[in-house]
Amino acid sequence: MTSESGPGRAAPRGLEAELAAGLASLEARGLLRALAPPDQAPDLADFLSNDFLGLARHPEVAAAAAAAALEHGAGSRASRLLGGGSPLHAQAEARAARWLACESTLLFPSGYQANLGVLCALAGRGDAILSDALNHASLVDAARLARAQVCVYRHLDLEQLDALLRARRGARRRLVVTESVFSMDGDLAPLAALHELCERHDAWLIVDEAHAAGLLGPEGAGAWAALRRPPEQARRLACRIVTAGKALGAAGAFVAGSEILCRHVVNVARTFMYTTAPPPAVPGALLASLEILREADGARRAVLERARRLAASVGLPPPDAAILPFVLGAEERALEAAAHCRAQGLGVMAVRPPTVPHGTSRLRIAVHAHNSEAECQRLIDALARFPRALPGAAETARRAATLFVVGTDTGVGKTVVSALLLRAARAQGTACYWKPVQTGSENDTETVRRLAEAPAEELLPPLHRFPLPASPHQAAAAAGARIELGALEEALERMRLAHPGACLVVEPAGGLFVPLNDETLFADWLARARPAVALVARSGLGTLNHTLLTLEALRSRGLEPRALFLVGEPHPANCATLRDLTGIEPILELPHLEPLDGESLERWLARHDLSGIFAP
Ligand SMILES: Cc1ncc(COP(=O)(O)O)c(C=O)c1O
Repeated sequence: MTSESGPGRAAPRGLEAELAAGLASLEARGLLRALAPPDQAPDLADFLSNDFLGLARHPEVAAAAAAAALEHGAGSRASRLLGGGSPLHAQAEARAARWLACESTLLFPSGYQANLGVLCALAGRGDAILSDALNHASLVDAARLARAQVCVYRHLDLEQLDALLRARRGARRRLVVTESVFSMDGDLAPLAALHELCERHDAWLIVDEAHAAGLLGPEGAGAWAALRRPPEQARRLACRIVTAGKALGAAGAFVAGSEILCRHVVNVARTFMYTTAPPPAVPGALLASLEILREADGARRAVLERARRLAASVGLPPPDAAILPFVLGAEERALEAAAHCRAQGLGVMAVRPPTVPHGTSRLRIAVHAHNSEAECQRLIDALARFPRALPGAAETARRAATLFVVGTDTGVGKTVVSALLLRAARAQGTACYWKPVQTGSENDTETVRRLAEAPAEELLPPLHRFPLPASPHQAAAAAGARIELGALEEALERMRLAHPGACLVVEPAGGLFVPLNDETLFADWLARARPAVALVARSGLGTLNHTLLTLEALRSRGLEPRALFLVGEPHPANCATLRDLTGIEPILELPHLEPLDGESLERWLARHDLSGIFAP
């Protein structure tokens, strides 16, 4: 992206003014990004690229790319289905299938497109996608685009996945989607156990090998290949996505699976059908890099060994691959550390939300075959002045994550549950309560203050108060005002910054589909903020329907409740049905307490463990 700015440029108006305000808000929160021209600092030691084995600049790979371009042209001229591509495309796919020991592969122009294409080809309405909470954005977007029900399970939490698979047994098809090596944390998914769960539940496993391909397994064929499973023990593996722009040093991604699966993808994956085939230089380069990978055991060992030594020297646990997450916590600290490294001639990337969860901003250190011992030592020295957030810090930060108390309706007991949660969160560390929009004459903040026996500093003032007891958009309109999503988002961010490490319990007005203004539902805010969620429902007639409807709406936005509260007359049969149908854990019955005060809440809390709700 190039742009012109300077004294002659007029002040932005209209759309530009709106966009400029958004950019200013990102900047104020330490979240603004800008493109850094890579050639500005050619001498930086590479701890940032995904070119783990240095193949992108390998003379044979570059020469093969150039030869392919000379022979077959710079571009592919059309999509594969319209005759675009070159003979090299099919050759590279056949070569990759041998490498990955599968029947067939299909080369997409990028890993992002491959993930979108495959998930949309395999899942749709009536299906369920179960996705690890730390999956890459391309998988998150793909799951949303597929229109299947999306259930996000806590990172690597097989118990929760098991419960969710059980709960979704009515779905037509269930797909468990995971990275093998996670791109921002560098840890390895337990692929064998995931496959076993899929077998047990008749579900299918999809593995994104972006950061394992080239590095792990025989000939670098990835983490799944490292399991060395015969085909009869891989029956529930639907496919792998093997990106080719990282350790393979080129671009694109192979979808690897059965011959039928690949034919199906050719016929229905829109990101394959309706895009120009990758240029011939890509399969040309890949044919060369796949050849080099066969003989690259030494380089693989060197990278993994170097990553282990580096991790030990900076106090990190032994890594599974070549990515080290040096978690610093706040955005500013990560930016400061990256700038310091840069000043020492070290290229290291600061990674901030939304790429990683709030409070876990970090340096993402990628280790390469071409990193010298001297560079590693310089990096160790540079990092020494930045105390890493302790392992618990990521935990604290996630615990500190915002918890939205979502109701199936208005008047279902959200305020009492919020008071309970505030008390429980306080027992784990600092906590705050926030009612962003208060309508009517009630004062929920005051009720929470009384029930949670909260000191003033735990209670954050509403952003909006409107006297009309109506939905936020109507109450605002009656007061001649309008609720802006951007203003709510900024206020939330300000609260987070002002209360670092605190768990923020947020109680929105009404139920999930309450309009904030004429265009925006509360659910839209949730989908963007992606907070932790506790779901509150009234116990009684209609509970099952309201709860399941709200849950479906949450899950289709990729939000999985950390708890379900059923408020009112206990109803063991409803409780059991919801446990069975939803897989939510825990489901907690909260009867109408008499009297309703701090003491009765405390007695209830003494009998129930809510700490899991705040767990990472
Ligand atoms: C896990 C994962 N999957 C997919 C992708 C997308 O791959 P590509 O860069 O080829 O679009 C990435 C890229 O960073 C990734 O980390």
